[in-house]
Amino acid sequence: MDIFEAIKKRKSIRGYKHKEVEEDKIKKIMDFARLAPSASNRQEWRFIVVKDKDKRKALSKAAKNQSFVEEAPVVIACCAETDNHVMACGQLCYPIDVAIAIDHIALCAVSLGLGTCWVGAFYEDEAKMILSVPEEIRIVELIALGYPEDGTVSLKERLPLEDIVFKEDWGKAYYK
Ligand SMILES: Cc1cc2nc3c(=O)[nH]c(=O)nc-3n(C[C@H](O)[C@H](O)[C@H](O)COP(=O)(O)O)c2cc1C
Repeated sequence: MDIFEAIKKRKSIRGYKHKEVEEDKIKKIMDFARLAPSASNRQEWRFIVVKDKDKRKALSKAAKNQSFVEEAPVVIACCAETDNHVMACGQLCYPIDVAIAIDHIALCAVSLGLGTCWVGAFYEDEAKMILSVPEEIRIVELIALGYPEDGTVSLKERLPLEDIVFKEDWGKAYYK
């Protein structure tokens, strides 16, 4: 599957088959997350692969009872071991860098026949307790991973290019 197809196929999966994810697939996904770019190559990302049913159940509760978090055979806690470096542009590095790695995870998963869903609606303090994460480490997102249940459709509701791409100056449409 090429990158264009993977991007088109990726969608948020909130229903998973009761099927384990093979270790070689998890390793491949994590290895491609590792290849993501990061500001000054800081690589502040750290990942906790969670398969334990009780932990997934607890994470689901921490994620405002989003049931697919428990249902997915794997949940990856995407963390940052960070010194909170801020770039000249004023943006914190770590949420951006971790997010890029997560997108690698999501796209690799699709190309391996798997599905993912980002989970930002979770209480970090609760998730940290469940996964024994030290205070100074941040959990940026949780990612559910598994084989998608059949029959999920993607609507891909997105703004048109005309509304989001400007030419030379803010507000002048590039595409008309
Ligand atoms: C940073 C971030 C946080 C998200 N948090 C959640 C979440 O907590 N629960 C959920 O069901 N979906 C979550 N999503 C998925 C979005 O709702 C989804 O990506 C969006 O509606 C577009 O749909 P698509 O992924 O199928 O293209 C999150 C996505 C991102 C990028």
